[in-house]
Amino acid sequence: MTRVLLTGGSGFIAAHTLDILLDHGHSVVTTVRTQAKADKIKASYKSYVDQGKLEFAIVPDIAQPDAFEKAVVSDPPFEAVLHTASPFHFNVTDVQKVSANIADLALSAEHDRT
Ligand SMILES: NC(=O)c1ccc[n+]([C@@H]2O[C@H](COP(=O)([O-])OP(=O)(O)OC[C@H]3O[C@@H](n4cnc5c(N)ncnc54)[C@H](OP(=O)(O)O)[C@@H]3O)[C@@H](O)[C@H]2O)c1
Repeated sequence: MTRVLLTGGSGFIAAHTLDILLDHGHSVVTTVRTQAKADKIKASYKSYVDQGKLEFAIVPDIAQPDAFEKAVVSDPPFEAVLHTASPFHFNVTDVQKVSANIADLALSAEHDRT
């Protein structure tokens, strides 16, 4: 069994990843942006929640400095992180806005590394 942090729990990739992780007996903490989103996922995975195999952490905006500061803390510690949370999607209507968002995120990631 591996203790896994899965970001972006409400997303498409994470939904499939979560199924596979739980099906293989792993212990998962998944991040979502709101408690309402956590509750919705909880309802679909009640037995795993009851067994303590699925927990939630709220991360409202990954672009904020230290967004994951609390979410990465776990006892027992995480052995793997699957990072699927992303503000980018393929439904692009304003390319310049997307480019600006990418630049902002890259700068904030660089800031977090230093
Ligand atoms: N889907 C594909 O076929 C595919 C293929 C190759 C690569 N990818 C990449 O895989 C990643 C995930 O794709 P996906 O299809 O799962 O995307 P998705 O369905 O749009 O899921 C994105 C997840 O990120 C969360 N999120 C968005 N902005 C956020 C923010 N600012 N702070 C915190 N969480 C935020 C969303 O939360 P909310 O639900 O609350 O908005 C959602 O949980 C993306 O980087 C995508 O480019 C996807």
